[in-house]
Amino acid sequence: MESLKAKINKTKLPNHIAIIMDGNGRWAKKQGKPRVFGHKNGVNSVREAIEACAEIGVNYLTLYAFSTENWNRPKIEIKTLMALLVSSLRKELKSLQKNDIKLNTIGNIKQLPEKAQKELEEVVKKTKNNKTLTLTLALSYGSREEIVNVIKNISKKVVNKQLKFEEIDEKIINNHLYTFSLPDVDLMIRTSGEKRISNFLLWQLAYAELYFTNTLWPDFKKENLFNAILDYQNRERRFGKTSEQIENINE
Ligand code: IPE
Ligand code: IPE
Ligand code: MG
Repeated sequence: MESLKAKINKTKLPNHIAIIMDGNGRWAKKQGKPRVFGHKNGVNSVREAIEACAEIGVNYLTLYAFSTENWNRPKIEIKTLMALLVSSLRKELKSLQKNDIKLNTIGNIKQLPEKAQKELEEVVKKTKNNKTLTLTLALSYGSREEIVNVIKNISKKVVNKQLKFEEIDEKIINNHLYTFSLPDVDLMIRTSGEKRISNFLLWQLAYAELYFTNTLWPDFKKENLFNAILDYQNRERRFGKTSEQIENINE
């Protein structure tokens, strides 16, 4: 494992990694266990991903933990996921502090059970001055809902004359997203073999490199993340330019 980590070029790290942590249910099913067993084991992979990012110096990690669409799952599964969120926050606070990690959330947090909201609020408050890594949990998050809210809030400002219609640009839109304080995503990883975005960060992923792996989330460990980063480092990000322009960037 150390050798994989050593291969990573520290000067070319993705600044912001976002992960769709998928495949917990299938992981459990494969072992003849109930789906929630997968979610419970998925928590260990969350810890590994956070530690891996902190170890190598990635600044932003965003994890898709619960989507707006996930509210349509069986009640018992939702209940377990919410309980798991509360217990994990309680358990991990110490290690977030120790590793200088700041917790942030995106999504319709008010829709979460009261207990989860309280716990989140507390951890966000206690870690707000930490600087090494910003960990963002996407909870009750849907990108389309986020964009609808942006349009509503900007329209309101225009109607109230706090903002001129001509002033609306990409920066203004950025500043109204849940992710206003975060940079664009550089690397988006999805586990479990599904190749779709599932309503995650549609605006923010505009120029992200996408990495799909068949590994199910509970099996995704530090070395899997290092592999994804190595793959990312072998790509050429052109942002619409030509390869020649990119090669001559320092001339
Ligand atoms: C991802 O795993 C976690 C959440 C959506 C909360 P899944 O629960 O979607 O696992 P699969 O896709 O059914 O295997
Ligand atoms: C996306 O996974 C949401 C999270 C990982 C939290 P899903 O498993 O809910 O996605 P779909 O519905 O299969 O696309
Ligand atoms: Mg899934």
